[in-house]
Parts: sequence; C-alpha cells; structure tokens
Amino acid sequence: MATPEAPSFELDIQPLFNQRDQEAMLIQFDLWNVEDVRDFAPEILATLESGRMPCYGSWPDEQVQLFKRWMDGGMPE
Ligand code: HEM
Repeated sequence: MATPEAPSFELDIQPLFNQRDQEAMLIQFDLWNVEDVRDFAPEILATLESGRMPCYGSWPDEQVQLFKRWMDGGMPE
C-alpha cells in the first residue's frame, strides 16, 4: 500500500483559503503565497485551532489537521 504523501501547498492547502480570507489577511500576509504561509504557519495554526479564524466560522477539524500535516511534512510547495 502506498504511503500517503505529505500534503502540498498548491494542491491541498492554498485551496482551503478562499478569496475573502486572502483579501482580509493581506494587511499581514498573503494566504495564497507559500512563503508567507510558511513564515506565519505557527500563528496561523494557532488561530485555526482556537477557532478565532476565519472570522465567519471555524474550520472543520479535518482541515485543521490537514494544515498541521502540511507543517509536519516540511511545508512543501
Ligand atoms: C496569524 C494568524 C491570523 C491573525 C493574527 C489574524 C488576525 C485578524 C484580524 C485582526 C482581523 C480583523 C478583525 C476581525 O475581523 O476579527 C482578521 C479578519 C479576518 N481574518 Fe484573520 N488572522 C489570522 C489568520 C487568518 C486565517 C488563517 C484566515 C482564514 C482561514 C483568516 C481569515 C480572516 C477573515 C475571513 C477575516 C474577516 C474579514 C472580513 O470582514 O471579511 N485569518 N484577522
């Protein structure tokens, strides 16, 4: 059986951030830019886990776990 690959930014993570998210957060970082998301990953994870972000409703746990697995996998593009 194939080992599931680490999630990639392009295929798995970037699509989790919609246009409203991306535009709202441009004052601090660009959620559609892998470099920015890497730089702020621990802070982003903390807001997702606490449910503080996105401001209109928290992510399902699955999505938060996917983001965490991407971090654990070395944050590949
Ligand atoms: C370091 C992590 C983050 C910080 C410190 C942060 C901080 C903030 C602040 C201060 C605001 C404006 C005040 C408010 O509406 O509560 C805001 C708004 C918002 N943020 Fe974040 N945020 C973070 C991550 C995220 C992430 C990961 C998402 C999406 C998944 C997101 C989506 C949004 C949205 C949708 C709004 C509301 C803007 C609107 O009115 O449409 N933020 N954020």
